Amino acid sequence: MTNLKIIRNLTLVCAGVFVAWTLVVAADKEPSQEGASSKAEQSKKDLSHFMRLKLDASSKLLEGLAMEDFALIKEGAKELNAMSTAEKWRVTNDAVYRNFSGEFQQTTKELMDAADKENLDRAALKWMDATMNCIECHRYARSITIASDNP
Ligand code: HEC
Repeated sequence: MTNLKIIRNLTLVCAGVFVAWTLVVAADKEPSQEGASSKAEQSKKDLSHFMRLKLDASSKLLEGLAMEDFALIKEGAKELNAMSTAEKWRVTNDAVYRNFSGEFQQTTKELMDAADKENLDRAALKWMDATMNCIECHRYARSITIASDNP
């Protein structure tokens, strides 16, 4: 074998190894990427489920206010308050979002107090504040795209 032939054979071997390696990497990547995306989808679903629980608590609150059932008002307010301090709630560290969260926590706390004192007017007012906070936080969240489908 001449030197040239050896070099050519070596080149062929290297090219073969490279192709095989590319295939292995590609084959390896395919399922792991899929796994990662379904994992992301799962956590998105979890977050969505968590966020929707606010509707159940709100419905309790509204029923409590309509029926003057202070225990129910307190229950709903307590649930919302607890949710707003949960890890999952903090979808972003953004200062304005944190501010909305802080306000919501405060308002739901005041709602609990109003229910304890059986003060329906105050509870109704605080419920309106809380509802405005829902709407405004969502408006803001959409503007920074954390509440959209964007990854
Ligand atoms: C401090 C901010 C903030 C407040 C206050 C807030 N939310 Fe949300 N909410 C979010 C964010 C952020 C999402 C979207 C999360 C995501 O999907 O990225 C969300 C999502 C939701 C969703 C959609 C869940 C889904 O994926 O289907 C509902 C319903 C909801 N919130 C209800 C409420 C209600 C009712 C209130 C008030 C009682 C409220 N939220 C108050 C931040 C807030």
